[in-house]
Amino acid sequence: MKSVRMLPVTENIEIAEGIFSMKLYSPEFAARVKPGQFFHIRCGGEKFPLLRRPISLAFTMPEEESFVMVYRVEGQGTAYLSGLEQGDRLDVMGPLGRGFHVDRGLRKVAMVGGGMGIAPLVELAGVYGNRAEVFLGYRDTPFLLQEMSHRTGNIYISTETGTAGHKGYITDLLPGQLGKMQPDMVYCCGPGPMMKKTVEICRQLGLKCQVSLEERMGCGIGACLVCSCATRDEKGMKTYSRVCRDGPVFWAEEVLMDD
Ligand SMILES: Cc1cc2nc3c(=O)[nH]c(=O)nc-3n(C[C@H](O)[C@H](O)[C@H](O)COP(=O)(O)OP(=O)(O)OC[C@H]3O[C@@H](n4cnc5c(N)ncnc54)[C@H](O)[C@@H]3O)c2cc1C
Ligand code: FES
Repeated sequence: MKSVRMLPVTENIEIAEGIFSMKLYSPEFAARVKPGQFFHIRCGGEKFPLLRRPISLAFTMPEEESFVMVYRVEGQGTAYLSGLEQGDRLDVMGPLGRGFHVDRGLRKVAMVGGGMGIAPLVELAGVYGNRAEVFLGYRDTPFLLQEMSHRTGNIYISTETGTAGHKGYITDLLPGQLGKMQPDMVYCCGPGPMMKKTVEICRQLGLKCQVSLEERMGCGIGACLVCSCATRDEKGMKTYSRVCRDGPVFWAEEVLMDD
């Protein structure tokens, strides 16, 4: 069930170049939001009438009745967010979408995140704790590492520039590590090519996999079809789904990654 609320910003700090962590106070949303869901945010109010912008839950802070979103400044909307200060209020619609399938009975899970796709995995890592192994791919400077290591100790890192961890792509590590680990489930969020590669590796290893998709959005609630993506129905026939309402998380076999 979605709600629209004016929420107070309690922190908005730059955690890496151009990447911000924003904490919002909301006992209601902090209690209701699930890993993999997102919020649709009005960036600018009446004087700056942009469409809302979707930003995922990064993690909740139940003891502070708050939740945190982590975003990269890409354009006008996220630049507006980066200028907000403690005490400002933000128009937030949410929690929206279908999040990750969580099964607390799973023995071992893997999470694969790339770039800003790392943020939506933080809350999920807290659900599985040390039953999760987390694979994080960065371009250059790692971020959200402390938040991840509070939730699970098993973290692999790669950077394209070689500043930390494996030099190259995080997917380079997957065939060996996932092959040894044989997780019950792989959760993936990040750039398209990274997700495509992860899905292919999971298919070869016979592993169950969920992916979180990103599409440009309009309404955020299933009415405008701006966020359509190509999927397969139960009979394997091509169809279209709405990322905002049917996703953003899908089973890997549902999604037609090339369309
Ligand atoms: C379900 C969902 C969850 C998201 N969660 C996060 C998150 O947690 N953190 C985060 O940093 N970003 C997230 N995004 C992406 C974020 O919504 C966009 O970066 C943001 O809308 C850009 O708005 P803007 O006005 O700053 O930039 P714009 O001026 O709208 O766009 C700037 C550039 O970003 C590209 N862009 C904009 N929106 C998207 C999009 N949805 N997918 C791909 N490219 C886009 C544009 O093509 C353009 O090149 C998410 C997107 C979706 C769909
Ligand atoms: S954004 Fe309108 S249907 Fe998804």
